[in-house]
Amino acid sequence: MKYLTILCILLSFTSCREEEPGPKPHTLKDAFSESFIMGVAVNKAQYTSEEIEATNIVHKHFNSITAENSMKWQYISPEQGKFNFSDADTFVTFGDTNNHKIIGHTLVWHSQLPEWIHSITDSATLRNIMYTHIDTVAGRYKGKIHGWDVVNEAFNNDGSFRDTIFYKYLGESFIEEAFIRAEQADSTAELYYNDYNMTFEGKRNAVISMIQTLQEKNIRIDAVGMQGHWNLEHPSIEEIETSIIAYANAGVDVMISELDISVLPRGENPYEQELPEQIENQLSERYKSLFQLFYKHRDKISRVTIWGVHDGQSWLNNHPIDGRTDYPLLFDRNYKAKNCVNAILNIF
Ligand code: XIL
Repeated sequence: MKYLTILCILLSFTSCREEEPGPKPHTLKDAFSESFIMGVAVNKAQYTSEEIEATNIVHKHFNSITAENSMKWQYISPEQGKFNFSDADTFVTFGDTNNHKIIGHTLVWHSQLPEWIHSITDSATLRNIMYTHIDTVAGRYKGKIHGWDVVNEAFNNDGSFRDTIFYKYLGESFIEEAFIRAEQADSTAELYYNDYNMTFEGKRNAVISMIQTLQEKNIRIDAVGMQGHWNLEHPSIEEIETSIIAYANAGVDVMISELDISVLPRGENPYEQELPEQIENQLSERYKSLFQLFYKHRDKISRVTIWGVHDGQSWLNNHPIDGRTDYPLLFDRNYKAKNCVNAILNIF
């Protein structure tokens, strides 16, 4: 009996030890290695290692890359009937060589299209061009792309269809057609719908009903990307959570695909020299709460991608107003990890 008691004590001690948290992780990709893929958007200077400080951050903290611009239609096919894959090829080789999961962004999007597309005014020609684009681009990288943003930003905030050239000439079915074509071009890649303001009720309902239509027709869609161009207050954690759950319930994975948090008040540019400590703390808190939420829903979330390596690179310095100084990312303009990184790692 005495030995049995000792054995029980020993066993309970061992199992207790097993549940103790391990040492605090030092990198973002290690912190979430059991939870979701940790990605970042890179530009040319970064995937050619010209901006080596940024490239080093990519390798240290991330295990997935999205091309911030280089795979967009405008750059891949600036002239009708011609394709220029030199940058996209370099990007894919960089990802491949360094074992990053490569995200293809994006096949069908109304923005950053080449000028020549706008001269098309009939549905047969546009359909042909859209099919050729998907076949050629997704086909070229077959087997190398982890997942494609097949369609980007097809809905307005209220859930109505965005008035794009694709909707105008091909109608609602352009989405289904794009997914079918992408599946045929690269059946090994995951297929995504990606959009911003995915917490808005109207858009959410439209996206969910689109998912259902695809599923009813046996057309594969694997995940939706909530872009995550957010700010310090909006959307609330509750709103984001409601949407993560709603999309997951529709039977797809959820990705936070373009995360950045603007700290600038609407229309103003108050922090031209530096970010006040109090605002940086607010930003850290915001990132912490977001990653706590993502971690809580790690069974639904397959990837989180930060939209840029460091603040100096962020598109938000020029959007929606040109020439401002924003601080939305995890590393500062001198490639130093901001407090946000520690705040996220401290979750563990
Ligand atoms: C942005 C890039 O970051 C900028 O460099 C470019 O000038 C414009 O596009 N939604 C998307 C991304 O899907 O492709 C956009 O990226 C940001 C909004």
